[in-house]
Parts: sequence; C-alpha cells; structure tokens
Amino acid sequence: MENNRNPDLDPTLQEEVFEYSLRPQRLQEYIGQEKVKERLEIALAAAKLRKEVLDHVILFGPPGLGKTTLAHVLANEMNSPCKVIQAPALEKKGDLAAILTNLEEGEFLFIDEIHRLPAAIEEMLYAAMEDRKLDILIGQGPSAQTLKVDLRAFTLIGATTRAGLISKPLFDRFGMVHRLEYYTGEELAVIAERSARLLEIPIEPKGAEAIARRSRGTPRICNRLLRRCRDFAQVKGQGKITSDIADSCLRLHEVDDLGLDSLDRAYLEALCIKFRGGPVGVRTLAAALGEVDGGALEDIVEPYLMKIGFLDRSPQGRRATEATYNYLGIEQAQTGLFGG
Ligand code: ADE
Repeated sequence: MENNRNPDLDPTLQEEVFEYSLRPQRLQEYIGQEKVKERLEIALAAAKLRKEVLDHVILFGPPGLGKTTLAHVLANEMNSPCKVIQAPALEKKGDLAAILTNLEEGEFLFIDEIHRLPAAIEEMLYAAMEDRKLDILIGQGPSAQTLKVDLRAFTLIGATTRAGLISKPLFDRFGMVHRLEYYTGEELAVIAERSARLLEIPIEPKGAEAIARRSRGTPRICNRLLRRCRDFAQVKGQGKITSDIADSCLRLHEVDDLGLDSLDRAYLEALCIKFRGGPVGVRTLAAALGEVDGGALEDIVEPYLMKIGFLDRSPQGRRATEATYNYLGIEQAQTGLFGG
C-alpha cells in the first residue's frame, strides 16, 4: 500500500506535528481507555513507591488510537525522557547498541512497529530487557571478542498493530500487555472539544458529536476531521463548528455517516460484487483494489469494518455480512449477476 496510502488513516508529517501539539501530557488529561489507564496508574504509583523504573510495556491495537501518546504520557508521569524509534529503522545490531548505551537512567525507549524488528536485533533486546546487559562483538574472525556492557535501568515500550506477530521470547519479556480499544462516540466528542479548545476554534456540542460519529473510533481521525471542519467553518461559515458546518464539510470530503471513506467503500463493493460476498483472501482483495499488499487492509481497513459488523474473517477468507449488503443497498441474491 506504499503507493496508495489511505489519506484518512496514515499520519502525514504535518499531522504528526499537529497531533504533537494536542497530545495530552498526563494520564489525567488522557481521555478514554479507562481500564488501561487504571492498570497503568497502579503500575506507575508502585514503581514510584519502590523508586524503580516502570516495567516494560507492550501496547497494541489499530493505528491512531494513541500508543505513541500513551508512551510519552508514561514517561512524563515518571519524569523521564522518552526516545522514539521505528523498528524498521534499526538495521544493524550497532544501531540498537548505540541507542541502548546512550539511554539515561530511567529513560523510556519507545519502539514502534516492534513486530518488524530484524531477528538479530530482537535477540539483543532479550538480555537488555531482562538483565540490563548488552553483548557487543568487537572485531572479526578468531580475534573477535565479546564485550559485556551494563546498561542503565530503562523502560521499553513496544507498540504494534499486530500482537500476533511478536515472537514469544520477546513477548514474554514484557511485564505488561495493554490492548487499546476503539474509542466510544462520547469519548471522541470530548477529544474533539478538547482539541478545539487548544486550537482556539469555537465548537458546538452537536458539531463535536458530528465529527466524533465519523471518526471510526480513532482520535487521530477525529483530530484530522476537526482540522478540515475548522477550515470549512472559517471559510464557509462564521468561524464556529456547528453540526451543519461539520455535516457539510464531511460530505464534501466523502466521509459518510459511519465514517467510512472511499477505500472502505471500494473494499466492501469488491467483496460483495466482484467476489459475491466471499470467502476471499485478503491478498486477492488487495490486488483487486490495486494495493501492493494486504498489510494496510489488515491493519487499518478491516479491523474497523469487523468492529461495526460489516466483515467476518474466517480461515477460508473474508466474508460480507447482511449489514454489508444493507449498507451498500444491494440484494444479497443479486450479487451473482455481477460476479466477476
Ligand atoms: N488527543 C488524541 N488522543 C487523545 C486522548 N486519548 N485524550 C486526549 N486527547 C487526545
């Protein structure tokens, strides 16, 4: 999907800067994920009480739900800095060694997409996480020597959209595993109001609800739609986001009442019409949509469609549901006529 990114879901650089400015700094300001927050509050309080570092944490769930934000919040709560790296950027063992040996006492290391770590680098992490030790190989051939380096205490936060792809030895070295869930409409409305306050754009509660309803349970999308509505309100309205302004703006951007966009609709139409409701493999669907691989469909598009009951995944492949046909306004029996 590298060449055909879903503009409503992949963060752009500009958006990352924007998100950064809206990011809650403390757990108290973080809206939603109540169970995860409660567990983390206890772990944080216990670590502070014992004057220890926080245990290593895995955060998993679909993109845009706040894994990076939460990592920064945890570091802030421990008054520690947080270094952020993307797993695919670590190519050589030396890359990780340089990072680990430069961590300050108590520092947080956030590794995004941790399921994509090369095996040799992942193996280095085991001793680092467990014993705060690093084996560094110096030289080559018969004269090569292993140097054992002690590391300062640190907390690793690993984030992934695919907990199932993390190897067991790595998974077992995390003290806490937290799954982030899609946010409710009410939580997203609160996030929209909070972000609007920070951006100093007036918003009516009904305007916040209209945005929240179409945010697919995802704060990143909520903040993105808010930005579009801010533009619209300033150019086409009186500068305030009302529900009418939000409705008109989101119609213009072809985000429907459920928050589904053109890629979601193309996916559902291919599933129901071209593949007669399935079962069909994700790679076949991806090829039909012109995607280079099914990864983005699996990570981004499908989880939300499953959540709203528009998709069943079975070992045989993807299947449409009755709700999918109702949404597309086509008869289930009719699909054979169009089948490709
Ligand atoms: N902005 C993005 N995600 C947020 C969250 N969970 N709470 C508050 N503000 C946010």
